[in-house]
Amino acid sequence: MNQSHENDPVRRSVNGVRIEAVRGDIAGQEGFDAVVNAANAQLQTGGGVAGALHRAAGPGLARECRPLAPIAPGEAVITSGHDLPNAHVIHCLGPIYGQDEPAEELLASCYRRALELAEEAELGSVAFPAISTGAFGYPLEEAARVAVDTVMGEADGLELVRLIRFVLYDSSTLEVFAGLIAPEGGS
Ligand code: APR
Repeated sequence: MNQSHENDPVRRSVNGVRIEAVRGDIAGQEGFDAVVNAANAQLQTGGGVAGALHRAAGPGLARECRPLAPIAPGEAVITSGHDLPNAHVIHCLGPIYGQDEPAEELLASCYRRALELAEEAELGSVAFPAISTGAFGYPLEEAARVAVDTVMGEADGLELVRLIRFVLYDSSTLEVFAGLIAPEGGS
């Protein structure tokens, strides 16, 4: 495996929007206006990303989420960030692989809707996890291709969002995203 992406962010600019991939924890993204939650339909705490964000945000996040739930696969809602270092959380419900169809469209919709909500809230920077690739079982390579293609496709129409970061939990996930964002290995 190529280790060159281990610590340095991999970057690419599309129409003035910087798209990058780093290894890290979605709950520790200081400096970003919003972090995206790989949520459940009830918008409550869970394992993985949802657990990390709700733990760091504190109980106020679950309280704010309650009247906004349930949401359907492909949908997104925005809340404040509570005790997180981010002003906002954008909660996306990804498809459960093998159950929610069409999976690719629903996954793409998560990224699109999240960016629309970020624009509406006049945010400049958003950090995404790899939605649906954990408990929801979406195969990593396919999910990463949908994520990167959708974000790069949307970048053209963005007016305020100028920085989009994929925060990947382990080095093999980072490598897959890095290969799609900067296929030459450059940054
Ligand atoms: N930071 C960044 N990435 C993380 C973190 C974290 N703290 N924790 C886990 N991940 C990674 C996982 O390794 C996986 O690649 O995020 C990806 C998404 O995993 P999940 O959080 O399981 O999200 P998803 O597959 O969309 O499943 C959502 O899981 O926790 C439950 O309540 C949640 O039912 C919902 C479901």
